Amino acid sequence: MLDPKSPIAWRFAQMNERVASAKSQDLYLYLQEAEEINGMHVTIKGRDMLQFASYSYLDLLGHPKIDAAAHEAIERYSSGTHGVRILAGTIPLHTELEQTICEFKGTEAAMVYSSGFVTNYSTIAALVGRNDVVISDKLNHASIVDGCLMSRAKFMRVAHNDMRALEKTLASIPAGKGKLVVADAVFSMDGDILNLPDMVGLCNKYEALLMIDEAHSVGVIGETGRGIEEYYDMKGVIDIKMGTLSKTIPSIGGYIAGNEELITYLKHASRAFIFSAALPPAQTAAAKAAFEVIMEEPERVKLLHRNVDHFISGLQARGFNTLNSETPIVPIIAGDDERAWLMAKIAQEHDIFVLPVVSPAVPSNLARLRCNVTAGHTIEEIDRAMDIFVDAAKEVGVL
Ligand SMILES: Cc1ncc(COP(=O)(O)O)c(C=O)c1O
Repeated sequence: MLDPKSPIAWRFAQMNERVASAKSQDLYLYLQEAEEINGMHVTIKGRDMLQFASYSYLDLLGHPKIDAAAHEAIERYSSGTHGVRILAGTIPLHTELEQTICEFKGTEAAMVYSSGFVTNYSTIAALVGRNDVVISDKLNHASIVDGCLMSRAKFMRVAHNDMRALEKTLASIPAGKGKLVVADAVFSMDGDILNLPDMVGLCNKYEALLMIDEAHSVGVIGETGRGIEEYYDMKGVIDIKMGTLSKTIPSIGGYIAGNEELITYLKHASRAFIFSAALPPAQTAAAKAAFEVIMEEPERVKLLHRNVDHFISGLQARGFNTLNSETPIVPIIAGDDERAWLMAKIAQEHDIFVLPVVSPAVPSNLARLRCNVTAGHTIEEIDRAMDIFVDAAKEVGVL
């Protein structure tokens, strides 16, 4: 039973009060149900809204080839697996998906997990341990942070995308320690791109392994959407390529791609691969088909890049601060939490589905609308959304 005076009870109460306060002001915008999804249109509380919060960057959710693959997999293998991959849970579709990922990412080997979060968490915890050091960018995703903590390696956080800070940190590590540097390719709150060339140079100089999370870079950056190595024209420089199957790839799960030695090690040492059930057949087949669609329909990536340019330049021309975003994740800085809540609420009242990100997820003076533009938006839709953001910003004093 919960002791009402315990710190646990205090924590419950704090969170419940924060939620109740937002609800009482009609500013609680989370957990809304999308009753229907049709490309970038969603029906919420019976209203047709334009989606500006989707991770379906190439508009692949609902693609007929991907849906058909999922249906076929259910027909053939049913809805679940017989357990974990290493025991009875592997079906041919898992191997086929892993081969497709190798082709897409240009690696010798790959492995899939049943969640992107768990992929980071479990991989990092398997790669480093007590006598090692793990260095992580301050804006890395929570799953990376938790993996670093879980690993029990010495956890060193460096200023965001700051290669001088990284060098100083690497130089401070005593000889003989194992070193892992880990970073997002595209940062999930700010939408900026990692300085990969300098990071690779430093990892080579200081003999550190390099792991990059491509959750928001696969299908998104690089001429054909292959991710950050293609973007910088630096094929094969990342030791451990991580990605999710839940964003551009409209499924669920995560992958690690790299050389055979790495993947063999992880398949036998990574606890979530060994002790957590395999990715279900429908999701595996959908993910495989989605990688194929990206390769077969390169025009989607071009459309995405066109829309990203139009959206970011349009917002900046209207006077918004979009930080250093160069990708479909575009923050519109509102300042304090309340302004961000209000701007999102006004946008939603005008049928633009966008969400606020507030502290502690971002610094309290950088609360924002976190907008996602995709290949599925038309130029007219993007213009309409931008005009509504201007009206909302004026109403709350951001512009
Ligand atoms: C950078 C990054 N890494 C990992 C994850 C976790 O992936 P998933 O949602 O597929 O579990 C996310 C999810 O938002 C992310 O943004």
